[in-house]
Amino acid sequence: MNKKSSRAKTVPVRRSIGGLSSYLADKPGEQVSNVTRLCFNENLYGPSPAAVKAIVQSALNVHFYPDPGGWELREALQRRHGIPPEQIILGNGSDGLISLIAFTFIDPGDEVLFCEPTFSIYKSSTLIAMGTPKGLPLDDAYRFDLEGLRDAVGPKTKLLYICNPNNPTGTVLAPGDIETFLKALPEGILVVLDEAYVDFMDLDKIPPVLSWIQKGYPVISLRTFSKVYGLAGMRIGYAMASEEVIQALYKVREPFCVSTMAIQAALGALSDTEHYRKVTRAVREERKRLQAELTQRGLKVIPSQANFIFVEFASESDEICRRLTEYGVLIRCSQSWGMPHWARITIGTPQANQALLGALDSVLGDMAR
Ligand SMILES: Cc1ncc(COP(=O)(O)O)c(C=O)c1O
Repeated sequence: MNKKSSRAKTVPVRRSIGGLSSYLADKPGEQVSNVTRLCFNENLYGPSPAAVKAIVQSALNVHFYPDPGGWELREALQRRHGIPPEQIILGNGSDGLISLIAFTFIDPGDEVLFCEPTFSIYKSSTLIAMGTPKGLPLDDAYRFDLEGLRDAVGPKTKLLYICNPNNPTGTVLAPGDIETFLKALPEGILVVLDEAYVDFMDLDKIPPVLSWIQKGYPVISLRTFSKVYGLAGMRIGYAMASEEVIQALYKVREPFCVSTMAIQAALGALSDTEHYRKVTRAVREERKRLQAELTQRGLKVIPSQANFIFVEFASESDEICRRLTEYGVLIRCSQSWGMPHWARITIGTPQANQALLGALDSVLGDMAR
């Protein structure tokens, strides 16, 4: 019965998705809760109690459809960012928004530029929308290479992604450099600034993206409730841009793609500024400590502005990652990023980070023998 039918081979998928692999994470056996999960850039401090309370309360109303406009949340975001609700769109995580951007703006054959390694969905969403993804190398400091991107812009370029901080390297660009880049771009190109990890940055490094939007630069800022707000399981994010861009996105978006629970959870999370402060402070402190601890062990660490650290080992990281799982610690090895000695480690709670360091010492000690 389990034998695959030969007819399955003839499923008529679109040519543009033929080369894609599906994003299925760990096997169910590896998702057990008693592991230290430092492989998905999640927030190990958890969501705000106010968000949890809002989720529980909203469960009583799930027989109603959500508000497709998500007005209450967009107004709360207006209070947070000082940008009108008409310039904000909610999405089913920033993943959902990246797909939405692809379906709204990419015509077949349009080019989409970014640097690599970076968040893989930029490439897959472009292919699904029948665009042509062009991944350029990062610069020598593992940052998005603005000069390279500027040189690569051509008549077919439609979209350009800048991941700031970049996943997986944790690097950021100077705000002044991004602004100079935006000013010099030819008309008709949209720049998506993926700011999933912006809340973990040092305050003086955060780009003034909202003022750029108000100045009329063609920028879309992508934000998520998955990281600093600890709501990855709720699937909610938002984008901020000009009213014209947001209106275009709302034409394509599925009306009810953001659930009532997700909206209420996000409202609860936004109301709890104390929790936000606690998480950002703790991640910045632990980032410093973990960077120092890893460096002391002779590992190369790229200074990070996110809630993860990119580390280079002396040998290929897949064996190290595999051995760490035996100690119950999951980190992300980077074979798929074409940097086989590197791994990405989420910054967890002090206890989780201690578990990582202890396991790492055992694994590296064993391997050195
Ligand atoms: C750079 C970047 N953008 C977007 C996302 C997706 O976030 P969300 O959970 O909102 O879909 C991630 C998730 O890890 C990410 O690393």
